[in-house]
Amino acid sequence: MIYEPAEDSFLLKAQLKNFVKKGMKVLDLGTGSGIQVLEAKRLGANVLAADINEECVTHVKKLKIKAIQSDLFENIKEKFDLIIFNPPYLPEEPLEPEDSKLSTTGGKKGNEVLIRFLKQAKNYLNENGKILIVFSSLTPDVNKILKKLNYNFKKLDEEKIDFETLYVYLIWI
Ligand SMILES: C[S@@+](CC[C@H](N)C(=O)[O-])C[C@H]1O[C@@H](n2cnc3c(N)ncnc32)[C@H](O)[C@@H]1O
Repeated sequence: MIYEPAEDSFLLKAQLKNFVKKGMKVLDLGTGSGIQVLEAKRLGANVLAADINEECVTHVKKLKIKAIQSDLFENIKEKFDLIIFNPPYLPEEPLEPEDSKLSTTGGKKGNEVLIRFLKQAKNYLNENGKILIVFSSLTPDVNKILKKLNYNFKKLDEEKIDFETLYVYLIWI
């Protein structure tokens, strides 16, 4: 199942024009429908898309985007000027169908995929490289985790939706 772009996707996408420059190397991790990578390409970046879900990889390849199947950085061999990630960030919800869980559920607490990502991401950034993420008020301890991993960060935007607030962060070393 390919994640249908939603409020989180749009909030993150809206920031790309402020950070993507022509010729920049950009990785869109968890590309899903390709909404972020298509915008980065439109803005002139040299893009790579990756997703753990083969269906998403096949989908974006059809949109003429270079894409690989990868669990986070498992199959990524390069460094980037910008890494974009709209991760699965919600706590486990027993009633959620298995196929949509891959897009929405970050683990039991909700922050597990994000923690794994942040532990690895600094090794895939060029000098002065940046990370853009989106997550929810339901994702626990994000500021604490970022501080513990010695990242700098800045909130770029937020949006209140039904039972949660979404946040877009810029992160750098
Ligand atoms: C919330 S969706 C975001 C999709 C799209 N980027 C957007 O902004 O609408 C999360 C995406 O991350 C992918 N994903 C989940 N776990 C992953 C992992 N460990 N490594 C890579 N991609 C992952 C899912 O398959 C899904 O496509």
